[in-house]
Amino acid sequence: MAENAPTVTETWATRWTFILAASGSAIGLGNIWKFPFITGENGGGAFVLVYLLCIAMVGIPIMMSEVLIGRHARHNPITAMGQLARESGASRLWGGVGWMGVLAGIMILSFYSVVAGWSLDYTVELFAGNFNGMSSDEVGVAFGEGLLQDVTKLTIWHTVFMVLTAIVVALGIHKGLENSVKLMMPALFVLLLAMLVYSATQTGHFGQGFNYLFDFDFSKLSWNAVLSAMGHAFFTLSLGMCAIMAYGAYMPKQASIGGTVITVAVLDTLVALIAGLVIFPIVFANGMEPSAGPGLLFVSLTSAFAQLPGGQFVGGVFFLLVSIAALSSSISLIEPSAAWVTERFNMGRVGAVTLLSLIVWVFGIACLLSLNVWSGAEYQLFGMGVFDLFDFLTANIMLPLGGMLIAIFAGWVMKRSVVLNELALKSLVRFNLWRSMVRVISPLAVFVVFVMTLYQKFS
Ligand code: PHE
Ligand code: NA
Repeated sequence: MAENAPTVTETWATRWTFILAASGSAIGLGNIWKFPFITGENGGGAFVLVYLLCIAMVGIPIMMSEVLIGRHARHNPITAMGQLARESGASRLWGGVGWMGVLAGIMILSFYSVVAGWSLDYTVELFAGNFNGMSSDEVGVAFGEGLLQDVTKLTIWHTVFMVLTAIVVALGIHKGLENSVKLMMPALFVLLLAMLVYSATQTGHFGQGFNYLFDFDFSKLSWNAVLSAMGHAFFTLSLGMCAIMAYGAYMPKQASIGGTVITVAVLDTLVALIAGLVIFPIVFANGMEPSAGPGLLFVSLTSAFAQLPGGQFVGGVFFLLVSIAALSSSISLIEPSAAWVTERFNMGRVGAVTLLSLIVWVFGIACLLSLNVWSGAEYQLFGMGVFDLFDFLTANIMLPLGGMLIAIFAGWVMKRSVVLNELALKSLVRFNLWRSMVRVISPLAVFVVFVMTLYQKFS
């Protein structure tokens, strides 16, 4: 392709599209549902600081690596890694990173879809006014003893969400998704900010919530919590499973990778922190425990909606936006495997997506059954049911491991000149900073956290 200087409008239009798709992937249930509840489970402050450090020192450099690998190869992740490895004289086994990504995507989507189903259910229930006037205890019962025990309802909503995901992916991401994300992401931001104003002015516990998030007490921090914080940094930025690599393949050549990636990471972090600042003051105002687990969003926030005048509509809109944020992430979870199956088995896109969605759907059923029918110890492994196990294995092991290998690949396997050219950073200082991150700091950080977690577990 000719290296003509593109017109300014062209460059911005295309770069913006990539930012939208990537932040659509990044911003999702990880920010609004998972971040507040795992922060609560891990005691707040210090956990948040480790998470922020991981975003900056591990997440951003690795996200840049994924984008540059995808854009340089312009292929699906499995092919991309294998091909670039061969070009650099390394083993084709590097394609295995893509394989692990495909598997991780399927595992994540199985529980992600179940939670997105809860969000769809709450959209309907709130609009219908079913929570109006309920106390926080009653809202807690409606979730834990109502929805989570209702296999039929869980199955229906999980199915609805998987069908929606399949339709969007089958249509191709350009038609349906880009336009809806363009409208919905700003709407989500506005609504979150409005709720931030509510929690800052109406709950009377904003200070307590704020301190909970930002008071760093390291005495409470175990290596296991550090592992969760690091794992969540990967999960929330959609890293380590090649989703961003797959999107990077469509990124225009002239767009700056560094600036784009930092924009996505900052947006994602802002949404998570604002969600925390909305939820914790409400939790404290209602005398609830921050460590309530996965139900936190569906109980604490919903009890505020139940009491708030007009909360039925604000809440309905809120969960609608959460559902859409989930959808813009779920398509990126299935995209790498869809691209691969299409190529590998010479299948049409619709067939590939149908097949993969069915597989995910079955795993999803196992996840939702592990919340009720299969909640007994005989259905558990390492004390976790399928839902928790998939969450733990992907976020805390597969994504950090995949990310570490991607960093090593970009830092050690790919030729320096190729990477330098692809990143096109403004100065050599920045390039060297990035390169020392992916060569040493990021892989070492993941390695140390893995080793220390194991060490603490068995000592
Ligand atoms: N980043 C998404 C979220 O925070 C989840 C996700 C993980 C999406 C991995 C794609 C790949 O909700
Ligand atoms: Na996220």
